[in-house]
Amino acid sequence: DMDRFVSELMSRMTIEEKIGQLNLVTAGEAVTGSVVSTDVESKIKEGKIGGIFSMSTPQRIRAAQELAVNHSRLKIPIIFGMDVIHGYKTMFPIPLGLAASWDMELIQETARIAAMEASADGLNWTFSPMVDISRDARWGRISEGSGEDTYLGSRIAEAMVRGYQGDDLAAHNTLMACVKHFALYGAAEAGRDYNTTDMSLHRMYNEYLPPYKAAIDAGAGSVMTAFNDINGVPATANKWLMTDVLRNQWGFTGFVVTDYTAVNELIDHGLGDLQEVSARSLKAGVEMDMVGEGFLTTLKRSVEEGKVSVADIDRACRLVLEAKYKLGLFEDPFRYCDDSRAREVILNSAHLAKAREAAGKSFVLLKNDRQVLPLKKQGTVALIGPLANTGTNMPGTWSVSADLENTPSLLEGMRDALGNQVKIVHHHGSNLLEDAAYQERATMFGRTIPRDERPEQEVIAEALAVAGQADVIIAALGESSEMSGESSSRTDIGIPTVQQRLLAKLLETGKPVVLVLFTGRPLTLTWENEHVPAILNVWFGGTETGKAVADVLFGDVNPSGKLPATFPQHVGQVPLYYSHKNTGRPLADGQWFQKFRSNYLDVSNDPLYPFGYGLSYTTFTYDQMELSAEQLHQAGSLQVRVTVKNTGKYAGEEVVQLYIRDLVGSVTRPVKELKGFRKIRLEPGESQQVVFDITAEDLKFYDAELNYVAEPGEFSVFVGPNSRDVQEKKFILVD
Ligand code: IFM
Repeated sequence: DMDRFVSELMSRMTIEEKIGQLNLVTAGEAVTGSVVSTDVESKIKEGKIGGIFSMSTPQRIRAAQELAVNHSRLKIPIIFGMDVIHGYKTMFPIPLGLAASWDMELIQETARIAAMEASADGLNWTFSPMVDISRDARWGRISEGSGEDTYLGSRIAEAMVRGYQGDDLAAHNTLMACVKHFALYGAAEAGRDYNTTDMSLHRMYNEYLPPYKAAIDAGAGSVMTAFNDINGVPATANKWLMTDVLRNQWGFTGFVVTDYTAVNELIDHGLGDLQEVSARSLKAGVEMDMVGEGFLTTLKRSVEEGKVSVADIDRACRLVLEAKYKLGLFEDPFRYCDDSRAREVILNSAHLAKAREAAGKSFVLLKNDRQVLPLKKQGTVALIGPLANTGTNMPGTWSVSADLENTPSLLEGMRDALGNQVKIVHHHGSNLLEDAAYQERATMFGRTIPRDERPEQEVIAEALAVAGQADVIIAALGESSEMSGESSSRTDIGIPTVQQRLLAKLLETGKPVVLVLFTGRPLTLTWENEHVPAILNVWFGGTETGKAVADVLFGDVNPSGKLPATFPQHVGQVPLYYSHKNTGRPLADGQWFQKFRSNYLDVSNDPLYPFGYGLSYTTFTYDQMELSAEQLHQAGSLQVRVTVKNTGKYAGEEVVQLYIRDLVGSVTRPVKELKGFRKIRLEPGESQQVVFDITAEDLKFYDAELNYVAEPGEFSVFVGPNSRDVQEKKFILVD
């Protein structure tokens, strides 16, 4: 049916109209790049626009759609996209925070809610999930993905696609997903955004590509190209990537859109002029050109000059029209604009409750000496720090649809949650950053944090006077929301020194200090870990951050988040990740320093907090793990059993993690790879047996010829509460 419909429509289209479908413009409201589209209205009427993104109101979307379906010759509806990456109006934690929940159902629900809200406002396409694996915390966009791990990232990719797209893309409350950034964007050299990547096929296939594939296998309707160069051919012009891998190997049937002006940027990459690079990216496998209009302005000429074929244009046009068909837009172009549904769903109490729950589940308790936490709901608390009272910074990066001005700050949210049970006094304590120019760069897009121009000592003295009134100090420190995200790479990934000096002074008071840490990336917290008794990493928690922080600090919610990315001791260790190779000169476990071994003179190889790490107010003990057999057959399965007991005073959730190591292979294999996890909830004293099934499928990897195989031989299996503190057993895979 779709085929016939689209073929019939295309038979009536001119080449210009076909090319028009490949043109994606921005309405210029929420700008996400440096170029803005012009003459949008007249282009719609002329059939020169296939899609629009970042239109912020349903009225404007409706008006644009009316122009398309009433005033263009062929009345082809427009597809409307936006970066709805962690919520639409109800904002959830940043994706790295959501990943820390290790809760796939929850993540899927957040995507579902985002789709319900955004679709009511006329949107039908989201530029999410972002599944770029990143092992370099200098890269600001690590905040937008699921962290360092291939397996966890793949499960999250699927959950998000399912959440956005539901069971039926044509339903009025779904969004088409767009998996991005294809590919390897998270491996930018030196963590500098948009930088080159150069990577072996072996590493690509085993470590970096699986999450994209998982999203596609889950049915993602579209793919966005990456900005970066890959082994000498930028992703946006990379035929091997988009045609051989994506289409031919993976069987992708949706459409590919570029990133913002990525076609034009091929000129700076050094691939030729606009006509040349436009032709090249179309032929490589791009269907839609975001904002740069290289397709619109040059493809016809390229057809005339024989540089691209009509078949290339037809392929691209067909895939874009098919996406619109799948979304039901030909049936009802306004199905996604529904004022009454918008009033019903946007920021409704169920969604806000889910945002509060998701935030609480994203927080990671990094340290809790002498059980400083949870706090008692009594007395006075001093909330000190530049992140304490800035609502605009709470939703975190990529919150283009959020109502920043009306987002409660940490202080406001906590007061709201605690009422008059706890008195909260407050002071900003310090500037965000010592350097005013840096602070300006770090507080863009309406997320200003006012500067205090008085001498630092004077400001701190005032903060200490406020702290003096309190029984407990909560230091709200770390990054502002714009210190991570796009084009926000950092070389120093510590808490800014001006805030550290404030923290040191707060500690000198002798009162208990809890560090509530805002961050969009793993930070180096070596000093803080040594000196601060309690550290709760809250990332950027979204709309309900303040209430969720109160829930956790005062014990209504027991923290259960686990790190989806390694926290290094020092930025010089980066990239640091748990699933590294052994090398030929490994250190013995727990050893450092050894001459002529793979290590540093000045810092051990250990992370500060390993992947998968996170504390709880309760304690969990793992008894001896058991394997159902010592051998696994290629077609068989093997069970790993472990009983986990809550031995503390609070009910709590634990993420039980399963890792595997292939001890001998035709190629080198990582020292550990996550292959399973279960999140369980236990009452005090309760225990539960967790069973993992291992099959040969879990042991497969891409060998030197890129065959996906499980090689017979010895394996280690590890179980534990994080990637470091594990028990180990061995088994053999036999033919
Ligand atoms: O979706 C984003 C992408 O992640 C970065 N560049 C701009 C796009 C559209 O806003």
